Amino acid sequence: MQKFYITTPIYYVNDKPHIGHAYTTVAADVLARWHRIRGDSVFFLTGTDEHGEKISEAARKNSTTPKEFVDGVVKKYIETWETLQISNDDFIRTSQDRHEKAVAEFIKRMDKSGDIYKGEYEGWYCTPDETFVTETQLKDGKCPFCGREVRRIKEESYFFRLSGYRDKLLELYRSNPSFLSPDFRSEEILNRLNSGLKDLSITRTAVSWGIPFPLDTKHTIYVWVEALINYISALGIGTEKFSEFWPADIHLVGKEINWFHSVIWPAMLISAGFDIPDMVFAHGWWTIDGTKMSKSLGNTVDPVEMSRKYSSDAFRYFLLREMPLGQDGDFSERAMKARINSELASEMGNLLYRTISIAEKYDGKISGQPELDKSLNIQEIDRKVCSLDTFGALEEIWRFVKEANRYVNQKEPWHLEGEALGEVLCNLLEACRVISILIYPFMPSTSMKMAEQLSCTEKPELKNCSFRREAPRPKKGGLLFKKYE
Ligand code: ME8
Ligand code: MG
Repeated sequence: MQKFYITTPIYYVNDKPHIGHAYTTVAADVLARWHRIRGDSVFFLTGTDEHGEKISEAARKNSTTPKEFVDGVVKKYIETWETLQISNDDFIRTSQDRHEKAVAEFIKRMDKSGDIYKGEYEGWYCTPDETFVTETQLKDGKCPFCGREVRRIKEESYFFRLSGYRDKLLELYRSNPSFLSPDFRSEEILNRLNSGLKDLSITRTAVSWGIPFPLDTKHTIYVWVEALINYISALGIGTEKFSEFWPADIHLVGKEINWFHSVIWPAMLISAGFDIPDMVFAHGWWTIDGTKMSKSLGNTVDPVEMSRKYSSDAFRYFLLREMPLGQDGDFSERAMKARINSELASEMGNLLYRTISIAEKYDGKISGQPELDKSLNIQEIDRKVCSLDTFGALEEIWRFVKEANRYVNQKEPWHLEGEALGEVLCNLLEACRVISILIYPFMPSTSMKMAEQLSCTEKPELKNCSFRREAPRPKKGGLLFKKYE
């Protein structure tokens, strides 16, 4: 059995989740579910990043303590993931003891490698990004990454000798080219690496909402350094789970935090003596109706509201179908309705509905030679999902859905009877059954509804995707999707 460990970023709990958080988490969920139906041993981790200035400021604005505040927002995250049917195996919170312990051990190991020293940090800091910004990085005096105000800070600080890791990182990228994924993102990392790697300030004295620095408890650990370690603290250093699942197979992240995952994290891991994950995949960004999403513009999209309005399956499908993982894309309800109407209601929903309607008028044996399966390539779909081309996989699945609809039109089963009808029906019901397995990772509830109508009681598994010579009698159920104006 192959193991598969996939993570999402741990999200800042300064506010409830929006479509961006939902996107990464749904995409990771699709991959986790796909690997489960392949029969892999899967560990899927998500969680929350709860320390630092950004969070304590948000708590202050809400006139509450950081702990009370984060507990409230974490609840909203958990509810959202339930609504979106996220099948994570664990949920790590950086305020948990298990995290604090692992972080302390990790830092001690970095110190043993001689990689930590005391100094003073003087420079700029962007609180919304929780990022140190150098003088040369400033853009018109603002944060070069998000364009917001930066603050000057001057503090005693401990540093990580990141500058010494340039060659080791280059060697890592050379020996495992897919570590930096997708391909086209490696250039920006290499350029930035080549323009110089500075030591990293890893503690703060002015921030009290954080994990005490184990070597000097006047300091707290810089929130990013601590946050990255979540991927290890969720397994627990030295545990059985750790030996089974570490190193991670995929850290799925948004493109704006690629540097932390592709440069700082592997350097920290080398320093602490841990193996390096197989891949950091930096996906693209959603805009909303053509504009950047922001709280001040008031155009943030609430995933729970979208799920209530259109069903969580339709929302999940749209997120994965509208843009390839890696590219940027635009969200609009109009585009979502269009896909629901044509792809989900007309193409897939109708295929099942007409198949079952024809079966209702036939009481003979549903059996015969498979022929429709010629236009289905399971290996190709599997290869695509395993290389994170979920977009291409959906295209391939929908090619098959269309093929099955074409088959109905061509065979005109309403003119058939007896064995000839039994054979066409068997092909159509088998096509629907296989489709229900293939869409399971993308739309788990719809998959279950289909299986139910098809009288299929097996768990969805890829190994059951070959056509059988006989199909059980289906039961009519409701429409899978309704159309929108
Ligand atoms: O960065 N489009 O947390 P965060 C697509 N705590 N994805 C988006 C998005 C958008 N418009 N906006 C956000 C942090 N995301 C840190 C991470 S990990 C050790 C610490 C998604 O709450 C995307 O995955 O700011 C992005 O990387 C993440 O949310 C940032 O979430
Ligand atoms: Mg952010």
